[in-house]
Amino acid sequence: MYKAFFGLNENPFNLSPDPRFFFRSNQHEEALANLIYGVQSQKGFIVLTGEVGTGKTTMLECLRNFLAQQSIGFAYLFNSRLTCEQFFDLMAYDFDLRCDRSSKTDVLIHLNQFLIQRSHRNQVTALIVDEAQNLDWNVLEEIRLLGNLENRRGKLLQIVLAGQPELDRKLDAPDFRQLKQRIALRCSLSPFREDETAEYINVRLEKAGMPDQQVFPPDVVAEIHFRSQGIPRVINAICDNLLLTAFAAETKVATMEFLDEVTTDLRLEWPGRRAPRGEYPNDLFRSETYFSRGGK
Ligand SMILES: Nc1ncnc2c1ncn2[C@@H]1O[C@H](COP(=O)(O)OP(=O)(O)OP(=O)(O)O)[C@@H](O)[C@H]1O
Ligand SMILES: [Mg+2]
Repeated sequence: MYKAFFGLNENPFNLSPDPRFFFRSNQHEEALANLIYGVQSQKGFIVLTGEVGTGKTTMLECLRNFLAQQSIGFAYLFNSRLTCEQFFDLMAYDFDLRCDRSSKTDVLIHLNQFLIQRSHRNQVTALIVDEAQNLDWNVLEEIRLLGNLENRRGKLLQIVLAGQPELDRKLDAPDFRQLKQRIALRCSLSPFREDETAEYINVRLEKAGMPDQQVFPPDVVAEIHFRSQGIPRVINAICDNLLLTAFAAETKVATMEFLDEVTTDLRLEWPGRRAPRGEYPNDLFRSETYFSRGGK
């Protein structure tokens, strides 16, 4: 709606995990490099964790792009609320295994053959599971067993589990000691620091066609950071609404008053400020306190 007004080619603060808008903060760069290294060097289990909205799915999209470019085969499961049967069915579907997908035994036999063939051709294969904090214990156990598939060259299946911090807690449970021991690499994402939030906003605007943005003055950016607690999804929601509010007011500069209006509408809560009324629309904005005002 406001694109033409601001001279933008596309919406800069879309909530979708679009890798074209990927901002490589140091921690995002490092985590992505670790994921790529872990898969390429066939490390076995790799775990990516981070608070809600910190960019895990976006990072997995970047990983998938990379793997596709390198002809590394992968299956990607993004819906983790699955029964064991559904898990095997979806995995077999994604790997395009020609077998009876409703039979776990059949899937396992064909998967093993498929992985061995690929390994003989020096091809790496990965299983990526997003939202892994929701995995049922039984499914997690099946995934652990898949991690046992190996030949003399090493692990046949590289397994990337991404999820919110509950995943870490799940993996810490006594029942999962064996899986925990097998995790070769762990990466985590934290909310942005203030300087990263500023750069993030600039980069997204630049990618949408606005280099050297003047819409968000430094004091407003600092306050966006504080109120969003540096969480990219919340930053996007605030900035998108600020652009809309500025557009409605026919001005190209966002003000503190606009920010107050937007964060009230979003019923956002941040340290020292509780939302004025009732329940939150969803968990998106239920941010915890990560650092205090001005903290880095
Ligand atoms: N490094 C980044 N570069 C660009 N955009 C990002 C980055 N990190 C997060 N985002 C943006 O923030 C929003 C939330 O990101 P994403 O969905 O990847 O988070 P998540 O960690 O998977 O969240 P959840 O825990 O709810 O699954 C998306 O709009 C995404 O585009
Ligand atoms: Mg996600």
